[in-house]
Amino acid sequence: MKILFIGDVVGSLGREAITEYVPKLKKKYRPQVTIINGENAAAGRGITEKIYKGFLQDGADVVTLGNHAWDNREIFEFIADAKKLVRPVNFPAGTPGVGIVYIKVNQVELAVINLQARTFMVALEDPFTTMDQLLAEVRERTPFIFVDFHGEATSEKQALGWYLDGRVSAIVGTHTHVQTNDARILPQGTAYLTDVGMTGPYDGILGMKRDAVIEKFLTALPRRFEVVESGRMIVSACVIELDDRTGKAKSIQAFQISEDRPFME
Ligand SMILES: [Fe+2]
Repeated sequence: MKILFIGDVVGSLGREAITEYVPKLKKKYRPQVTIINGENAAAGRGITEKIYKGFLQDGADVVTLGNHAWDNREIFEFIADAKKLVRPVNFPAGTPGVGIVYIKVNQVELAVINLQARTFMVALEDPFTTMDQLLAEVRERTPFIFVDFHGEATSEKQALGWYLDGRVSAIVGTHTHVQTNDARILPQGTAYLTDVGMTGPYDGILGMKRDAVIEKFLTALPRRFEVVESGRMIVSACVIELDDRTGKAKSIQAFQISEDRPFME
């Protein structure tokens, strides 16, 4: 089983990049499942129903979220009916939406889990014990398990990667918007990448207009950040191949597409 995962889509440039490159990437890598992190897709904050449906039309099978899931209040209107939309599973009980979806791939199922870290972030339920509890039931159903771990601290991401080694097929990080160069298969067969990176503006600061961000650092005063809406774009993604019998990872490859790293057919 091959999985294509595309990191944090930011704003309109990110959405344009999805429309342009998802078909090309599907042709190149032939994944059975395509997953997009869309928590910054609506002007950098949250997601709308139209954008969510647009991602599905462009070829996504699942859309994952993160700490910005609720920033666009429209989500509360459609999340209950959005069967391919996953928010972090460790939000308190009673939070709208689901934290796991199952995607049928030929004769098997892939469990897609969205999970949020706690270091330098809102303290949700402990992601480590959340996964212990969740995996007890998920592994009864399928050994094909993908985790989008949305978090700030590399240490927490690495720690959970090692903690889950051999118990999930893949755990890849999102949220920092900067792709890390550490894609690997851990010893017990789990594909790991600290952060996939972002998809959207190439010349912003984490996707935002630079001036306000720099000014904030210079003055230490609050500044309103706006997403870069024109100019060059970058795609950040990874492709993971799983063993069709065991669900263990065979390979993981992280890559980016930009003017500096042009797309090759
Ligand atoms: Fe985030």
